[in-house]
Amino acid sequence: MAVTSDIGIDLGTASVLVYVKGKGVVLKEPSVVAYDKDTDKIKAIGEEARQMLGRTPGNIIAVRPLRQGVISSYTITEKMLKYFIQKAIGKSFFGRRPRISVCVPSGATEVEKKAVEDATLQAGAKDVFVIEEPIAAAIGAGIDISRPCGNMVVDIGGGTTDVAVISLSGIVVSTSIKTAGDDFDDAIVRFMRKRHNLLIGERTAEEIKIKIGTCYKRPENITMEVRGRNLVTGLPKVVTISSDETEEALREVIAQIVDAIHSVLERTPPELAADIADRGIVLTGGGALLHGLEELIEENTGITTMTAEEPLNAVAIGTGRYIEFLISKNEERQ
Ligand SMILES: Nc1ncnc2c1ncn2[C@@H]1O[C@H](COP(=O)(O)OP(=O)(O)OP(=O)(O)O)[C@@H](O)[C@H]1O
Ligand SMILES: [Mg+2]
Repeated sequence: MAVTSDIGIDLGTASVLVYVKGKGVVLKEPSVVAYDKDTDKIKAIGEEARQMLGRTPGNIIAVRPLRQGVISSYTITEKMLKYFIQKAIGKSFFGRRPRISVCVPSGATEVEKKAVEDATLQAGAKDVFVIEEPIAAAIGAGIDISRPCGNMVVDIGGGTTDVAVISLSGIVVSTSIKTAGDDFDDAIVRFMRKRHNLLIGERTAEEIKIKIGTCYKRPENITMEVRGRNLVTGLPKVVTISSDETEEALREVIAQIVDAIHSVLERTPPELAADIADRGIVLTGGGALLHGLEELIEENTGITTMTAEEPLNAVAIGTGRYIEFLISKNEERQ
């Protein structure tokens, strides 16, 4: 009997993760593709392409084909998927095509889901399962979603934040907003411009967020030196920024995430809401790593909030386990 390998792909706006059954997450690369706009030829994919972002000569363009969680460029996404699948499991996969599950954000339309499914089939899959990101995040966070019990998962990625209440393997109430980790960076860029007359790039803003950023007062106010361009003189300039300032810079975007959580809680049936109050809120996604987020959400909802063990890998792990999960459910039914 031919052995099929099961693969889970987290097709994120910031990065693509590939999970292989029995091996775990084997690949993690930025979802960036660089191509020559004159010839349409792909020049680089993943990490190599990321290095080119903002640094390319005129004819080469580096793009994030999944900006904001959905496929903005179908052919580029297909090529990127094919490349990552081959890189993750080797060339041999043409011999035994894998079953692949791929996750999409909960707000994705049927057309977008179909586009992801087609791209994955084109990339070499035998069967494709398209799964909604909150379900994957919950499985990956170790929650037993098959029980008749309410669980709230908040997945804060690069482009989208998904808030969902899950019970009996389905999404009961959810919302997906286009405010997430990348918007934290944009907010820091805007703050530096307004407060310090300093123009900084996206990558510098991300570094600030990761090193000293917070959305809840840190016990000690740490600082960092930031290099950018003085907007008045046009010359390079160094400014010292503190974590307290990042709290101010991030306040508005973080409030949008808290509002999304509130709106889902308001629409949650009372029994499930009681379960959530008991079991707490679980955070996944890279955005969940922002300092102070658990405390802030807890303070604003009165519900215990914790981050999954591997927030960056949760969706990929859950997507990969989804096939096993489906099989075990089918066996139970038979
Ligand atoms: N230590 C950290 N602190 C704060 N933010 C972080 C940290 N590490 C990563 N991030 C942020 O997490 C975000 C990426 O998260 P993730 O990999 O979950 O996104 P994604 O799955 O690719 O995106 P999406 O789910 O929106 O499609 C980026 O905005 C990144 O800057
Ligand atoms: Mg994600």
